[in-house]
Amino acid sequence: MRTKFIKVLGQDNQCLNNLNIDGKDIIRGLNQVPKTLPSKYFYDDIGSEIFQKICELPEYYPTRTETSILRQCADEVAQITGACELVELGSGSSTKTQFLLNAYQKISDKCKYIPIDVSGGIIKTSILNLQKKYPDLLIEGLIGSYEQALAILESVIVPSRMIFFLGSSIGNFTAQECNSFLRRIAHTLKPSDYFLIGIDLQKDIKILEAAYNDSKSITAAFNLNILSHLNWRFQSNFNLNLFRHEAIYNQANNQIEMYLHCLETHRVSLDTLNLNVFFEAGESILTEISRKFDLTILQNELELQGLKTLKIWTDKNRWYGVILCQAVELK
Ligand code: AVJ
Repeated sequence: MRTKFIKVLGQDNQCLNNLNIDGKDIIRGLNQVPKTLPSKYFYDDIGSEIFQKICELPEYYPTRTETSILRQCADEVAQITGACELVELGSGSSTKTQFLLNAYQKISDKCKYIPIDVSGGIIKTSILNLQKKYPDLLIEGLIGSYEQALAILESVIVPSRMIFFLGSSIGNFTAQECNSFLRRIAHTLKPSDYFLIGIDLQKDIKILEAAYNDSKSITAAFNLNILSHLNWRFQSNFNLNLFRHEAIYNQANNQIEMYLHCLETHRVSLDTLNLNVFFEAGESILTEISRKFDLTILQNELELQGLKTLKIWTDKNRWYGVILCQAVELK
């Protein structure tokens, strides 16, 4: 029986829900015009549960499309890379990961999987489930932000490693953030290590907007939950009834934008941040961008940052892509 453990990164050890936050990013975002909130605050334990429900919605095509691609390409990915340490950024429930785990278990009998997530609740549950299904797999979970986790990974050299980043989570970054993130990944990897990324592609606006405005309003609950998260974490008093979910596709920037639209003029206090915020009826908080990519353009960006494309898989509609890259020597 192999050991398993979960490491909580940062100081917030007593609570397994560690974003290691001082809230400076919240203060910065709420002082901007228009107001913004960082998307990582969606994922407290409740938010991660709501997100899992989103993944099962008929309108939300990314999860099932990516799953079908992974089902089809996992063996080939493992063939190309050979045995390596598997690191997943934003692992969540690790559901789709199982295709990769199966493929790697076929080629090696001592696999190691490192799931990383900001939500301690979801990582604990998913590790317990995986341990039952894969008794021979060594699992070492990390609870923390991407930056915290990459800093840890960088300090441990292994013969071969693949970092994977699924679900098109890279779409939450602005173009500039995306490039520095990719560069950060390339730095964390040794030359010849691997990076596997799932990306949502540009498509008909109707399909895109439906995916973020589902008929059961699960996405609305997900969006509003960011305020509940701030309420428990920063002792604030957001009233969720005073905001309405909105998601639109910004065609010029190729991105979904999610907003919380303020319905009444009012004031909110975030006690532990010593912050008072004034909201005007009609104004909106930008809570998320979800960029939709062009494969060729992204491939160029990856290459510029030191990640050379080895192979691309897509579905028959070309709605979604999975790219396997290899890190090159950085100059
Ligand atoms: C997990 C960031 C990829 O952008 O589609 C789903 C999050 N937001 N519905 C996405 C999300 C609203 C999702 N990512």
